[in-house]
Amino acid sequence: MDQGIRSLLDYLNSAPTAYHAVSETEKKLKAAGYSILDESVTWNLKPCSGYYVIRNGSSLIAFHTGVNLETPGCFRIVTAHTDSPTFRLKEGMLNEKNGMLTLGVEVMGGPIFSTWLDRDLAVAGRILIRKKDGIETVLYKNSERKVLIPNPPIHLNRTVNKGFEYNAQNHLKCIVKSIQKSSDSTGKSKNSKENIESFYDLIASDLKISSRDILDADLILYDTQEAALTSWEDEFFSSGRIDNLAMCHASIQALLAVQNQTGITVAALFDNEETGSKTPQGADSSFLEQVLERIILSRGGSREGFMAVCASSFIVSADAAHAIHPNFSDLYDEDFTPELNKGPAIKKNAGWNYASTGETASLFKLICEKADVPYQLFINRSDSPTGKTLGPLSAARLGIPAVDVGNPLWSMHSIRETGGVKDHNFMIKAFETHYRVN
Ligand code: CO
Repeated sequence: MDQGIRSLLDYLNSAPTAYHAVSETEKKLKAAGYSILDESVTWNLKPCSGYYVIRNGSSLIAFHTGVNLETPGCFRIVTAHTDSPTFRLKEGMLNEKNGMLTLGVEVMGGPIFSTWLDRDLAVAGRILIRKKDGIETVLYKNSERKVLIPNPPIHLNRTVNKGFEYNAQNHLKCIVKSIQKSSDSTGKSKNSKENIESFYDLIASDLKISSRDILDADLILYDTQEAALTSWEDEFFSSGRIDNLAMCHASIQALLAVQNQTGITVAALFDNEETGSKTPQGADSSFLEQVLERIILSRGGSREGFMAVCASSFIVSADAAHAIHPNFSDLYDEDFTPELNKGPAIKKNAGWNYASTGETASLFKLICEKADVPYQLFINRSDSPTGKTLGPLSAARLGIPAVDVGNPLWSMHSIRETGGVKDHNFMIKAFETHYRVN
C-alpha cells in the first residue's frame, strides 16, 4: 500500500477523539524534533526550528520558524479540525432497564444517527484522575470493550425504510452489558449491579485504579471497525472521522516535509468545529492569533510588525468537501461538484460560509499548477444552504485572506465516510507547495 495512505489509515485508527488526534500528532512532531511551547511562559524561539502549542489537550498549533525569523515576510497557514460528529456520554450514570445497563448520550455535532446503530461501538476520551499533587489526565481507548445501540426489528417498526426519526434521549442510549443476576440469602434471584454504581467503575477497573479517583471524564462513542481501502480496485478508503482528520494528517505531513523556507509555516488543528468553534481552543478564539503574534514578539518584533506580516500571509482552510454521488446526483449542482480521485476541491459560497474569493481561489489554483495537482470546484445547489468551515472565522479574526478547500468525500458525517486514495496524496503535495515560500 502507498506510504501516505498507510500513514493516514494508522492515524485514523489511533485517533477516535480530538484528544487522541492531538496526542498522535504530537508524537509525529516530537519524532521530527519539534519542541512543545508553554503558553504560560515567555517564548525564546530560534530560526529553522519547529515548535507546537496545545490547548485543552484537543487543539494543536505547530509551526516551523524558517530561515528568516527576524523578518519572516509571511505566515503560510493550513487550518483543519480535530473533532468529528459523535455521541458524548452523559457522565458515568448507568440506567437499569429490562435487564440491561445502559448509558445516556448527547449528540455532538451532526452525525447521521442511523449509521451508528447495530455497530461495534466503543468508548474513548480523557479521564481526569485525582493525584496527591493535583489532577492527572489519561487518554482512554479500548476497542475490546464494546457497547452497542441496536435497532428495533423491522416487524415492530414497519415504516423504518421510509425514514425513521430517532429520538436522541429515548432511542440512542447505548447498551453496556446485561445486569448479572445473583441470589440473596433466601435463595431468590434478584437484580444486582455487581457493585457497579457508575460506568466509571468499569473504566476504573480497566485502568486498574480506584473509581473514587476518577474526578471527571470527557468520553464519546466511536466505531471499532478499522479504516481500510475499499472498492473492487482499492481506489477509495473508508473510515470514521475522515472529516477532518485526513486534513489534519495532510497538513502535518506537509509541514514536516518542508524546512528552511523563508516564511513561517503553520498547521493549526482546532477542536470544536462541529459545535461552532466558540471555545478557548476553537477556531473562533484567540488561539491562532496569540500564537502568531508571539512568534513575532519573541524576537523583539512589535504588534505593528505582526500586523504587517499578517497582511502578506495566506490561509488554506482545509475541510472535507462533498463528492458527487451517482445515486443522489440531484442533490448536487452537477456542474460544480467534485468527483473522487480527481483532486482537491476549491469551495465557494455567495453567503461567505466559505472564505474563498476569486483572488484566493486563483492563488490556490497556482499552487496546484506548481505542484502538478489537479483541482476541482464545489458550489452548492442554489436552492439549499451550504455547510460551514473554519476558513471565514480564522480569516476574519486575523485579517488574512483565506481559501476554503477540501478533498471530496461520500457520506460526510456518517459513522463511516469514503474518500479517494489519490486525493490524499494530491492534497499533501498542494500543502507542501503552499508552505514552500522562497
Ligand atoms: Co469538517
